[in-house]
Amino acid sequence: MPPLTSSPAWQALAAHRARLAGTSMRELFAQDPGRAARFAVEAAGLHLDYSKHRITDETLRLLLALAASRDLGGWTRRMFDGEKINASEGRAVLHVALRAGRGPFPPGRDVMPEVEATLARMRAFSDAVRSGEWRGGTGELVTDVVNIGIGGSDLGPRMVTRALRAFGGPRPRVHFVANGDPADLAATLPALDPAHTLFIVASKTFTTVETLTNARRAREWIAGALGGRAVGRHFAAVSANVEAATEFGLDESAVFPMWDWVGGRYSLWSAVGLPIALAAGYERFAELLAGARAMDEHFRTAPAERNLPVLMALLGVWYANFWGAQSHCVLPYAEDLHYLPAYLQQLEMESNGKRVDRDGNVVDYATAPVIWGAAGTNSQHSFHQLLHQGRLLVPSDFVLLARGAEPAEAHAMLTANALAQSAALMAGKDDPQAPHRALPGNQPSSTLLLPALEPRALGALLAAYEHKVFAQGVIWNVNSFDQWGVEHGKVLARGLLPRLLEGGEAPELDASTRALLARIRGNGGGGD
Ligand code: F6P
Repeated sequence: MPPLTSSPAWQALAAHRARLAGTSMRELFAQDPGRAARFAVEAAGLHLDYSKHRITDETLRLLLALAASRDLGGWTRRMFDGEKINASEGRAVLHVALRAGRGPFPPGRDVMPEVEATLARMRAFSDAVRSGEWRGGTGELVTDVVNIGIGGSDLGPRMVTRALRAFGGPRPRVHFVANGDPADLAATLPALDPAHTLFIVASKTFTTVETLTNARRAREWIAGALGGRAVGRHFAAVSANVEAATEFGLDESAVFPMWDWVGGRYSLWSAVGLPIALAAGYERFAELLAGARAMDEHFRTAPAERNLPVLMALLGVWYANFWGAQSHCVLPYAEDLHYLPAYLQQLEMESNGKRVDRDGNVVDYATAPVIWGAAGTNSQHSFHQLLHQGRLLVPSDFVLLARGAEPAEAHAMLTANALAQSAALMAGKDDPQAPHRALPGNQPSSTLLLPALEPRALGALLAAYEHKVFAQGVIWNVNSFDQWGVEHGKVLARGLLPRLLEGGEAPELDASTRALLARIRGNGGGGD
């Protein structure tokens, strides 16, 4: 395969972009009355309108040719076949198995018995806690669940639990503690009663410092209030490292398994999703899986030109690599989706924020852009000014609900705002008399329409983003499933900690870091 940027498919796109540069989207819409209908696709109950982009039929044809030239179809098959496509860690990538529904899957290596057994345990446990059959050490009902985890062991379940808030009953309330800063746990515990509180320690590796530190503090809180023997009724864990979880003091029966073939940021479909089942009920969790399964099926089988995640991926490549866009904005018009941008930050940037390709070469093209965003309409009163009149090209995803929460006027208000924003970003506004009032437009956006904020649609949406990231990783020839970049900082922090606590020189560090260390220690920030 020729290097990506010198490949004919890439070169053709670069030439095409040069030809298209002078044509605005407003002109494209004026020239082509069929554009909105043609640049739209349905999948697993979702509707994607991608007509407000700097594209023509020719753009799509060339982008699809690029995807084909990178063997996207072959990589997709290899992922679904359970091949070890996470080469740097020697692992298969099988988060799709978590929602496959039934086996055998994948061919030749059936993981479904383990998946189904774990789902059955999740169902039994969440039912028992919700029904009141599971009680704390002093016989009290569980009114509050605290998930202790970080990164993929936090962002996914946190986001979905919040998104499905409307499906939860009054009990249990589910809280999330992630930060190693004790303030996170300290802000959560005072409102809780130890006798009524259940902790879930979620850590794939069970070595993550923040999570283990918070878990120890939580264990002290329970043991201090109820005695050490009560701990077993107030803790469960989710981990691929069952041994470490039992060393922490948990009975093996309280540990829900995970597997090395599930990446942390792809794990909300596993027992990491237990908070979702506890908050919204297992049935809702099962519907979430069903929605994701429908999107998996679409992604695996639909032709690329009608494949929703593939089209999302190609549009991202188009802007990142041919227009120099360095960021991508996510704008859910639903307050209960306000964690979606944070969740997608890890999904996209930890997956594709890479500089070396699968063959070990430093790449000469952009990979993942910065993902950012916020829930509308809050975002409008904050940073949309830059989208409308700033100097940066920022493609956006508007996420909208066809049916929103009551009252109808509130949903109409949100929808009107979202549509107004995407229309204004595309068309702009002329004002020759007052240039400060003019909007140049030509700012691209997709609109993803969900039937409602319900589990199936949400599952389909999240799976679509997962596959978008996968497809982009294939095109950029990077391994989307490792994250070596975050390891070095952890090692440095481990080395710095004793310097802060006990003093001593750190000659291996740069002058700036040494000066900061000395200043913080001088201000009592160390252990003296
Ligand atoms: O440091 C990054 C990371 O490894 C993420 O990839 C992961 O989601 C997070 O830490 C938490 O890891 P664990 O679930 O093993 O505690």
